[in-house]
Amino acid sequence: MKNHSLILVSLSLLITAFAVAADTTSEPTQIEFSNTLPTEGNLVLGVFENDALGDYGTSLDAMSQGGLSHAIKATAFEAKIMQTQVITGPIGTGFDQILLVGLGQKTDTNTALQWQEIGGNALQVAVKTFKTTPALVFDLDQHVQKTQAVANLAYGVKLGSYYFDKYYTLAERHKSQAKVTLIDAEVTAVEKYYQHELDPLANAIWITRNISNEPANVIYPESFVAQWQAHFKGMKNIKIRVFDEKDMLKQGMGALYGVGRGSQRQPRLMVVEYMAGQPEDAPVVLVGKGITFDTGGISLKNPPNMWNMKFDMSGAASSIGTIYALAGRQAKVNAVGIAALAENMPGSAAQRPGDVVTSMSGKTIQIRSTDAEGRLVLADGVYYGDITYNPALLVDLATLTGSVGRALGKDYAGVFTRHDDLIPDFINMGQQTGEELWQLPLNENHFKAIENNVADVMNSSLDAPGASAGAAFIGSFIRDTTPWIHLDIAGVAWHDKTTAIKASPGSTSFGIQLMNGYIKSHFETE
Ligand code: BES
Ligand code: MN
Ligand code: ZN
Repeated sequence: MKNHSLILVSLSLLITAFAVAADTTSEPTQIEFSNTLPTEGNLVLGVFENDALGDYGTSLDAMSQGGLSHAIKATAFEAKIMQTQVITGPIGTGFDQILLVGLGQKTDTNTALQWQEIGGNALQVAVKTFKTTPALVFDLDQHVQKTQAVANLAYGVKLGSYYFDKYYTLAERHKSQAKVTLIDAEVTAVEKYYQHELDPLANAIWITRNISNEPANVIYPESFVAQWQAHFKGMKNIKIRVFDEKDMLKQGMGALYGVGRGSQRQPRLMVVEYMAGQPEDAPVVLVGKGITFDTGGISLKNPPNMWNMKFDMSGAASSIGTIYALAGRQAKVNAVGIAALAENMPGSAAQRPGDVVTSMSGKTIQIRSTDAEGRLVLADGVYYGDITYNPALLVDLATLTGSVGRALGKDYAGVFTRHDDLIPDFINMGQQTGEELWQLPLNENHFKAIENNVADVMNSSLDAPGASAGAAFIGSFIRDTTPWIHLDIAGVAWHDKTTAIKASPGSTSFGIQLMNGYIKSHFETE
């Protein structure tokens, strides 16, 4: 008896251990294509307005002797975009239930983004309805945009299937899907485009979201570096350089070093080179703010929303994530991702308001607020990127200010530059990718506002709007001849609500699609 229960207990412990181990992986959902309908279970079926069924739908309708179109008519389902409806599988089709997904008018020409949203929404409703994802049939047939449309639907399905559920021990709470199958008659054309262009991008987004969503006891400067190193392993044309505290001091990176001082977790500067373009072409350099947790330091933040400051490394994650996407697509371009990583903690070793630090550029900085730490780590990050690579374009991405969130909300990231000619193409790419931008001012007054009577500059100022002062501070460590764009993503890098393709809720990985698209259209050859 005793022995039996012991065996039972250890057996159940073993099972639990396995279950937990299996649950804590959050690998990207695998998208599979097939041209053959399954014969049982549940199905997701795309339908155009006016009951326009495609080839697959038509054959199901025939199998059910008109039962499918009859069942569709019997509901209030109009096949409008984003509309969904569950019906009982008509007799003869073999299916238990069919989730109808509205595709709008067959003559509509949807943007890539709209197809992605339809795909992501379909997946999420399917997971909610069926728990597991059945095969998805969008049935676009002869639709004018066929290949691109189906590939973007697949991409949306994959992004929509991102759930950060690895810490749920209850299996019922899990929504992650290991594999999703899309059924389409012309598998090869769709698959080629999807696998080469979109799947690598989705994987980059996936990893970036995972790293940004992880709490700060899991992701700190060293583990951020280690996780990315593991992901880049075996990828072509990648070279990774990591600076630790000693290297920083040797390089004179006193601004980055100073922010990291208060924490037991040592700061790091991670540099990922992806050089697959012409050797003579100057690279695009992406520098990201990588504060793995922002308590504010000695200028301590208020507790209620502090937990969210684990996302303060989102800019760094998106910078490195963009490089990962380029490498995954084997893009012919030179690009460098730089992550300026530190944990901003109070403590007896922490820097104080009033302290003066010397940056790698030689410029001295008076610390006014230890909570304006992002611009400090970036001061050394952007300077290093500028002088090391003479970039064709330097972009910094940072969850820099609360001020930008108050101004622009969740709809736009703030974009700042001294090179206004760059703005229209960036705004345009933002609209195409759904990572939208709104320009905010950066002028001489903002640079004047951060002048200081003790040091060369100070890291915060009451004489300028918060987001513009932050931009000016970063800009003062970049040569004004270098084409530079500053993206303040503090408002948009995190979303508390689930959206079709952006958040689960949590990290939106903002910036990867924007930068991937911009680099593709402006710098890639072939
Ligand atoms: N990480 C914060 C910015 C932030 C605040 C992002 C709220 C998302 C939500 C940044 O380091 C910060 O603390 N900025 C200060 C700057 C100020 C002290 C000059 C801010 O915006 O209040
Ligand atoms: Mn801060
Ligand atoms: Zn911060």
